Amino acid sequence: MAFMTPSSTVRVDEIERFNRLAATWWDRTGPMRPLHVVNDLRLGYVLEQIAQRFGRPVGALRGLRVADVGCGAGLVCEPLAARGATVVGIDAAANSIAAARLHSGAAGLQIDYRLGEPEAALHDGELFDVLLLLEVVEHVDDMAVFVRDAAAHLASGGLLLASTINRTLRSYLTAIVGAERVFRVLPRGTHQWAQFVRPDELGRAAAACGLVAGDQRGMAYLPAVHRAWWTRGLSVNYIASFHKPEATAP
Ligand SMILES: C[S@@+](CC[C@H](N)C(=O)[O-])C[C@H]1O[C@@H](n2cnc3c(N)ncnc32)[C@H](O)[C@@H]1O
Repeated sequence: MAFMTPSSTVRVDEIERFNRLAATWWDRTGPMRPLHVVNDLRLGYVLEQIAQRFGRPVGALRGLRVADVGCGAGLVCEPLAARGATVVGIDAAANSIAAARLHSGAAGLQIDYRLGEPEAALHDGELFDVLLLLEVVEHVDDMAVFVRDAAAHLASGGLLLASTINRTLRSYLTAIVGAERVFRVLPRGTHQWAQFVRPDELGRAAAACGLVAGDQRGMAYLPAVHRAWWTRGLSVNYIASFHKPEATAP
């Protein structure tokens, strides 16, 4: 594929895996079930953070430009578009983008889905008020480059939200042993522990792009009962918020 340049953030094995799963994205009882459960929780957080950053009522998104980078089949793009945001969803897996287009079309939503990694799929000079990197940085080849390529498209004053999995013993036991091997709610090989991202690593990648760190929140997911909830600690799943300071007049 043309976008897989030597500096690509794409891991071909990951994209092939997501391509194979594409038909199951919107099946709440299939292999994407954990993502649906986590999404029910994290969507509220996304809406809250947007409301705080832009001084709006929660869920009032009209006029905001949002890019969901690594959007899969659009679990987040759709509810944001339905609330009035102008949404661009990008993903390197062609089958996921096809599934996303099909589903949003059936729902009557206008979402600009694009195939590729951020560097190629976002246009020069294209800026967004909100950038979402949700459960994606642990699947890319170079997390810092991926964050940099996406953050280059954040407007001044804009919000970047990233959710991922911390690289701890606990995350190995729960996200890999528990979810993939014991409860088998995720296909084996969904996650590579070495690819998980510690909050300080994510923070450094964001700071290198001039972003300022804000709120951080932990999430827990219990595969046995398919429930997710917020936690104080960040030892497994977490979501972090950053913003780009307003440009100051010279
Ligand atoms: C775990 S899924 C998360 C999907 C979505 N963000 C969500 O949370 O519902 C990760 C997605 O990232 C995509 N992805 C992985 N590497 C990518 C890259 N370098 N550029 C763009 N998309 C990528 C995969 O194809 C997959 O759809």
